[in-house]
Amino acid sequence: MASSSSALIVFSLLIFSSSALAISKRPSASEKVSLSLYYQTLCLGCSEFIVNELPKIFDNGLIDILDFNLVPYGNANLLNNGTIICQHGPFECFFNTVEACAINIMSQDESFEFIRCVQNFIAEGKIDESSSCLDSNTPDHGKALQNCYESGLGQKLELLYADLTAALNPPHEYVPWVTVNEVPLHMDIGNFMKYICKAYKGTSTPKACQTLRIGIIPAEPIANMKFCRVNDTSPTTKTSPRGWNF
Ligand SMILES: *[C@@H]1O[C@H](CO)[C@@H](O)[C@H](O)[C@H]1NC(C)=O
Ligand SMILES: *[C@@H]1O[C@H](CO)[C@@H](O)[C@H](O)[C@H]1NC(C)=O
Repeated sequence: MASSSSALIVFSLLIFSSSALAISKRPSASEKVSLSLYYQTLCLGCSEFIVNELPKIFDNGLIDILDFNLVPYGNANLLNNGTIICQHGPFECFFNTVEACAINIMSQDESFEFIRCVQNFIAEGKIDESSSCLDSNTPDHGKALQNCYESGLGQKLELLYADLTAALNPPHEYVPWVTVNEVPLHMDIGNFMKYICKAYKGTSTPKACQTLRIGIIPAEPIANMKFCRVNDTSPTTKTSPRGWNF
């Protein structure tokens, strides 16, 4: 009895120390680089950045050194009575809110996959098909999303994102607006991974950075990216997206 319980203690100590070791190999929270994307759902440049650029950090492991934040609000305006007016009309507000709910409900990987899927349909002009992005394997996500939207939680999340966006210093001038450790990259967002690697001061340098660290110049501006400026008066999207039943 005594020997088996001491064996148990040794065993637990082994597990504890090996898991402590595993944790110490990962970047600590303070070593992480913060990457934030301020965006709105019906701005083409935002879709392009989400669909073509951001998936790279999930593929090459950079996500492991990031405190990654998506802020779906963009150039919307908050009226005194709490009403949000989106640059491209109510359907942009709808998708901003749905994506805010996804970020709140799902894991980071799941919500990014969902948002990438929705933004891809929007960019292709197939807004009606975007509801198919809800994974049929996880029907509880659909219910939770609908509940978030209809309960007013989504609206509260949007008000939080309104505050975060308004607090930007310097203020954003257009979207997509990308910051690395709170410093905006302006239109040099094609180099965003190089900025991440440059900002990373930790010891567990991801493989991706070993090739990217070499020189941020020359810039690789993303050809013809459609930025949406704060004061653009853009035509609002009038057609209501079908397929979403809330
Ligand atoms: C808020 O104000 C706007 C503009 O004055 C108005 O159109 C809207 O109905 C108001 N909303 C609420 C909830 O009072
Ligand atoms: C947008 O318009 C407002 C009011 O017309 C002005 O105060 C602000 O400076 C403009 N912002 C930009 C980025 O041009």
